[in-house]
Amino acid sequence: MITLKNVVLRRSAKVLLDGATVTLNPGEKVGLVGRNGAGKSTLFALFNGSLHEDGGDFSMPRQWRLAQVAQNMPETDESATDFVVGGDTRLLELRQKLAAVEAAYEDNPDDAEIGMELAHAYTDLADAGEHDAVPRAQALILGLGFRVAELDSPVNSFSGGWRMRLQLARALMCPSDLLLLDEPTNHLDLDALVWLEAWLQKYAGTMIVISHDREFLDAVTDVTLHIANAQLTRYGGNYSKFEDMRALQMEQQQAAFARQQDKIAHLQKFIDRFKAKASKAKQAQSRVKALERMEKVAPLLAEAEFSFEFKEPGHIPNPMLSITGASFGYTQEEAPPKTILTGVNRSVQGGQRIGILGANGQGKSTLVKTIAREMGALAGTVTEGKGLNIGYFAQQELDVLHPQSNPLEHMVRLARELGAAARESTSEQSLRGFLGSFNFSGDMVKQPVGTMSGGEKARLVLAMMVWQRPNLLLLDEPTNHLDLATREALAVALNEFEGTLMLVSHDRALLRSVCDEFWLVGRGEVKDFDGDLDDYQRYLLDEARRQREEARLAGQAPAADAPAPATAPSAPDLIAQSDQPARASAVSGSKSGANPQEQRKQDAQQRQQLAGRLKPVKAELDKAEKRMAALNAEKTGLEARLATPLEPAEIAEAGRRLKAVGDELNTLEERWLELSGQIEALSA
Ligand SMILES: Nc1ncnc2c1ncn2[C@@H]1O[C@H](COP(=O)(O)OP(=O)(O)OP(=O)(O)O)[C@@H](O)[C@H]1O
Ligand SMILES: [Mg+2]
Repeated sequence: MITLKNVVLRRSAKVLLDGATVTLNPGEKVGLVGRNGAGKSTLFALFNGSLHEDGGDFSMPRQWRLAQVAQNMPETDESATDFVVGGDTRLLELRQKLAAVEAAYEDNPDDAEIGMELAHAYTDLADAGEHDAVPRAQALILGLGFRVAELDSPVNSFSGGWRMRLQLARALMCPSDLLLLDEPTNHLDLDALVWLEAWLQKYAGTMIVISHDREFLDAVTDVTLHIANAQLTRYGGNYSKFEDMRALQMEQQQAAFARQQDKIAHLQKFIDRFKAKASKAKQAQSRVKALERMEKVAPLLAEAEFSFEFKEPGHIPNPMLSITGASFGYTQEEAPPKTILTGVNRSVQGGQRIGILGANGQGKSTLVKTIAREMGALAGTVTEGKGLNIGYFAQQELDVLHPQSNPLEHMVRLARELGAAARESTSEQSLRGFLGSFNFSGDMVKQPVGTMSGGEKARLVLAMMVWQRPNLLLLDEPTNHLDLATREALAVALNEFEGTLMLVSHDRALLRSVCDEFWLVGRGEVKDFDGDLDDYQRYLLDEARRQREEARLAGQAPAADAPAPATAPSAPDLIAQSDQPARASAVSGSKSGANPQEQRKQDAQQRQQLAGRLKPVKAELDKAEKRMAALNAEKTGLEARLATPLEPAEIAEAGRRLKAVGDELNTLEERWLELSGQIEALSA
């Protein structure tokens, strides 16, 4: 049980909790919600012991094992799989212990006690899940959207967002009683999000998750903890229930407040009238006391509303941009460039509002980054209209901010760089005023950005972008970190924006409300998407089906349901999980792409060729699977044998064999994955 009694929590001069009292029970799934900067992440710091209460009492069972997502960007050559296995801290401890006992046994092979210890070390390790640690880790990695071929890639080779996914997998790998997740969905796309929901629904411990995503919270929580006005309030329900209950409570509180105000006015009138009259002085005095004793109902603080607008762009070139015969991708050292998109022929007109769709990893960000001049085209031309002024927002690059500088210094720097071009006043006073309109007021304009909350940083990046008066907005996942009210404000501002907009977002509500045409990035191309978001969900379903079909033809199992976190999936399930269809199950029917007949014919031919090349790989895969089954059977036998009374020498021997079997299994599993990777690559 976690209890807070009258807890006071501060960050510098800010009081984030002031006498908060709440209890969370074991096994509860709690959503922690509140505005940007309300103190949610700070409360996590209290839970994980990196911060102490400034007053009151906080307690949590001492023996609870805690799992949380590390916030730093991992920098290591370790493979993705090893990195995630490393999240299981208990396993690592037991491995070290075994190594120590093994060394002792080498020195004293006849010592019965050490023999016993050795056997225990083996069984402890087995109990901790040593035998299936690798497949468990890989199930997590694949579930979060990585490809089989990436399982052994070094962590360093992944981009920021993907490395943060590995951090998430590592936290899920750790057996825990309390799981703390701070905005876990920020770096996920729809597929991975759905997978995570399924995983969390099966998590057995106590979970506290911070999120601004209503659908996600509804799917995984049953208790809501609301932080506002330095108080914590517990609601017994998911996010939607919380909203209902809170609305009702606010209504009641408003009514109670009004009634109390009437009563206060009445008492006060009595006091004022009679305090000078000796005969009534006593009654007046008792009313003064009553007034003092009265527990005041707080007036409803209307949630500080927030809105902003984009300035009218001065000049809008037309066309804004034209792309001819272009290929986009990445140049690599000592290797040919990696082409992601080819044959791109597009032009962007003034006033267009384009939503950029496409499954994860298909090249949406590559397209956006190239247009934003972050990288060059590999071939072809990108011609910009005269006076094009791009406002680029990339959520992963909140590190465009300087942690040591404060918001005002950021604005001053920006003004110095482009003051004249943006045609804005650059006096400190006007910059302060501008920041104020983005809710950075008072001391906050001087607070180092490094100490600000995620949402506050995102809001600052947004403010800096608005200040530049862009005529083309390029927004790549702009809503991550933003609370619901700020998202709302962004949607309103985007709707009123007079320039051109290109938006990548997994926030369907935002796409729907601000875009009126869509581009689809997929299969190496950029095309118009002829339809709306419902059609797009259908498209995703079809894509998922197509991928499953290919996997099936390559001899793999059909997609299974979402994986169970506690049990290790058998090897073929690993593939199936990465083929989870998107959360579009409510949509039925199908709508295929262009030229369905021709497409089907080509597909059939390709499948035939593919089958030929796949045959030998599949044969080896089958063989590996058979051997793995035999080894697993032997392992079960050995474990059973170890559970019976034996001589120390027999125990050690069985333990040793168990280890050998485990090692061979590991090697085979690796080979199995390699082969699966080949099959995947061939099928791609
Ligand atoms: N070291 C610090 N010095 C001064 N202020 C701080 C410090 N650390 C945090 N704060 C402030 O405390 C407040 C709470 O921060 P916290 O990160 O807990 O918010 P949050 O509720 O997690 O917000 P978000 O939804 O944006 O993540 C913020 O206004 C932040 O600017
Ligand atoms: Mg936070």
